[in-house]
Amino acid sequence: MTVAINAEKLTKKYGDMTAVDGISFRIDEGECFGFLGPNGAGKTTTVKMIHCFSPITSGSVTVFGKSSTIDNREIKKMTGVIPQEITLDVDLTVYENLMVFSRFFDIPHHEARVRIAELLEFVELQAKAKSRIHALSTGMKRRLLIARALLNRPRLIIADEPTTGLDPQVRHLIWQRLRLLKNRGATLILTTQYMDEAAQLCDRIVIMHQGKILKEGPPAQLVADEIGREVVEIRVAREEDAGLIAKLTDIACGHERAGDTLFFYCRDGRDLMKKVVELNLPNVLNRPATLEDVFLKLTGRSLAE
Ligand SMILES: Nc1ncnc2c1ncn2[C@@H]1O[C@H](COP(=O)(O)OP(=O)(O)OP(=O)(O)O)[C@@H](O)[C@H]1O
Ligand SMILES: [Mg+2]
Repeated sequence: MTVAINAEKLTKKYGDMTAVDGISFRIDEGECFGFLGPNGAGKTTTVKMIHCFSPITSGSVTVFGKSSTIDNREIKKMTGVIPQEITLDVDLTVYENLMVFSRFFDIPHHEARVRIAELLEFVELQAKAKSRIHALSTGMKRRLLIARALLNRPRLIIADEPTTGLDPQVRHLIWQRLRLLKNRGATLILTTQYMDEAAQLCDRIVIMHQGKILKEGPPAQLVADEIGREVVEIRVAREEDAGLIAKLTDIACGHERAGDTLFFYCRDGRDLMKKVVELNLPNVLNRPATLEDVFLKLTGRSLAE
């Protein structure tokens, strides 16, 4: 197995503030690896250090064996970045944005034309080739960023929150495309705040919080190991907590509180639900465990907090 990325004690400081706090991880070629975490966790800062955009304060990271230092041309050549911010040139059309970008990689004009046609089809934007950027919806701009990231036929694709703020239809289109790229052999790094996105796309994830990696593993395994199979959510006033926890805690394998909700974890929700019915509790939900529960258990906060 070829190692795509190897990070050792990777650290980024902005003045006194540590944005990325000595994290180590390894990504194999062909994997989809996810960084999952709330706002400010350090996801973007981490990927910017990988793709040679942001200088490393200490530690190291290599991309296919090459050391990531600012403006390492070899790494930039084999990497495609879908940035979190929409960094398109608003004075140009869709087609022109791609053509100008292709020059950064010294792609000959005729070859660029072929690739642009292919990529516009890939992201379903053929009809918008002559449109200016301000005439595009957010979903279209995101798809254009994906096309742009693929112009140099990258071996490594970094997608920084590729579906934030998009409607479900566009999210699914983007997920399909990212899966297709992975099936063609690309290595994918994804950052996201969406648990379902990480679960859908990633072979392995790390959960990041305040610049640190809290846990690493395949999404389903993290859920099974940390939580179990099912969660029973009960919305209650805080004063009722203690009594309820005492009554249910023997049946559940753990519990957590976030806001007005108590979360009970269990291998199988049926016994707990029986008790809930006996106690005649209102506002109860029994559902499968998710990565959101893992995050809550690890940090005592929900991702949205
Ligand atoms: N250029 C910068 N100067 C100073 N501080 C910064 C800079 N960029 C990021 N930070 C800080 O570093 C921390 C991590 O930010 P980062 O953008 O990496 O988080 P993130 O996980 O990508 O969050 P989001 O989900 O909001 O995109 C935050 O506290 C942020 O304020
Ligand atoms: Mg970010």
